[in-house]
Amino acid sequence: MQVKKVGVIGAGTMGNGIAQLASQIGCEVVMRDIKDEFVERGLKNIDRFLTKSIERGKLKADEKVAILGRIKGTTEMSDLKDVDFVIEAVLEDLELKKKVFQELDELCRPDVVLSSNTSSMSITEIAASTKRPEKVCGMHFFNPAPIMKLVEIIRGYETNDETVAITTEIAKEMGKVTVEIKKDTPGFIVNRVMIPHFIEAIKIVEEGIASIEDVDTAVKNGLNYPMGPFELMDLTGIDIAYHVMEYFYKELNKESKWSSPNLLKNIIRAGKLGRKTGAGWYEYNQ
Ligand SMILES: NC(=O)c1ccc[n+]([C@@H]2O[C@H](COP(=O)([O-])OP(=O)(O)OC[C@H]3O[C@@H](n4cnc5c(N)ncnc54)[C@H](O)[C@@H]3O)[C@@H](O)[C@H]2O)c1
Repeated sequence: MQVKKVGVIGAGTMGNGIAQLASQIGCEVVMRDIKDEFVERGLKNIDRFLTKSIERGKLKADEKVAILGRIKGTTEMSDLKDVDFVIEAVLEDLELKKKVFQELDELCRPDVVLSSNTSSMSITEIAASTKRPEKVCGMHFFNPAPIMKLVEIIRGYETNDETVAITTEIAKEMGKVTVEIKKDTPGFIVNRVMIPHFIEAIKIVEEGIASIEDVDTAVKNGLNYPMGPFELMDLTGIDIAYHVMEYFYKELNKESKWSSPNLLKNIIRAGKLGRKTGAGWYEYNQ
């Protein structure tokens, strides 16, 4: 593999997991965040994950030392000047991502691929903030990045085949299963499939057809899914599901199939459920 040094932007939930994966395949890694405390927290998370892997007999102590030794935490963007590949994992904010990509474009060699872990933003728009749109693509990991198998690789309007090939190779080296999203579109594959099943599940409860428990039981046992839609929303965030629905509705031509159910709107507006309250669907009084 040509890529020897990887830059990761953001040391948060996704960034530190991705930095760990890049180091595990033998790359030098520069993980950048904006404050020392965020960098430290990211490094601590990696340390904790690797310690647990040792306890489970999946990793040797010297391997942990080597993995951590290849990751340099920094707040300086200039430390990424000689990386061969970049994965961006800053907050889900388009203007911030565009600014970061502009900086990266000025800093990194022209042959370097710049990828984004965005869950929903337009790769085409992010790429347009650089002078190398053909070298920009989406590299969408799932949470927790070191464990979840899938990486969605997304083509922006101008992404070329070589960029997709390099990104796919790195993801596969990391032990991931990859899929290619050939056209830049909101939600890629997984969220585009997941959101309609959330909407239908909520509507079934809203219409008094079945209880939350029975919808989850039906989906788990009838479709052989490991989790029901309500359990999955509680894990990934009811408020996030709501925001994704609103985003899809806006971006996918306001088709009614994407509009969020009234029950969900009211629950969010009343501030009753969601990550802020710590209460999930199973606390909802049906
Ligand atoms: N959390 C998930 O389940 C999940 C799953 C897949 C994809 N994503 C996507 O991954 C990205 C990151 O999400 P997260 O959950 O890790 O967020 P997070 O809030 O945990 O971490 C984001 C980090 O980016 C840092 N940051 C902000 N501006 C920066 C800059 N200019 N340079 C470097 N770092 C900067 C923040 O300080 C923060 O530490 C988002 O685009 C999100 O949509 C998240």
